[in-house]
Amino acid sequence: MCVIFILNGPNLNMLGTRQPSLYGYETIAAIEKECHSHAAVLDLIVDFRQSNCEGELVSWIQEASRKASGLIINAGAYTHTSVALLDALLLCTQPIIEVHLSNIHAREAFRQHSYVTPTASGLIAGLGGYGYRLALTAMGELLKKKNPVESREKI
Ligand code: DQA
Repeated sequence: MCVIFILNGPNLNMLGTRQPSLYGYETIAAIEKECHSHAAVLDLIVDFRQSNCEGELVSWIQEASRKASGLIINAGAYTHTSVALLDALLLCTQPIIEVHLSNIHAREAFRQHSYVTPTASGLIAGLGGYGYRLALTAMGELLKKKNPVESREKI
């Protein structure tokens, strides 16, 4: 079965109490649980992780580039700042889907640039925790394709 890494960046461990009007009341543990059950329906295995440390996320992306069939990432604030994450993501030859709980394009100008987006097959933003399940469904579809990362070869 295909293993999908789901990586979460800084402050996402605080979901549930962190600005719930923006990010909702669902905890990261609840999102993780839903991802595991949804993945089981799709015949996928999820490796779900969260870190507040940029270097740890870089190492996990490198690990994903070796072990995962696909990568779903909500890099939190590092989305908007991290060339190191971009460089690590460029190592990945497997499909990448970017997820954000909030609609980053309807927020402050600094959130509207993402270092993740150029490496991603697709982006889901603004749908809260449901976005992770949508990303898993989309990942399942991408993995059925012969060349799932075709569009990324232009970078
Ligand atoms: C976020 C959006 C980011 O701008 C923010 O820094 C986060 C969460 C989201 O899921 O909406 O930490 O990635």
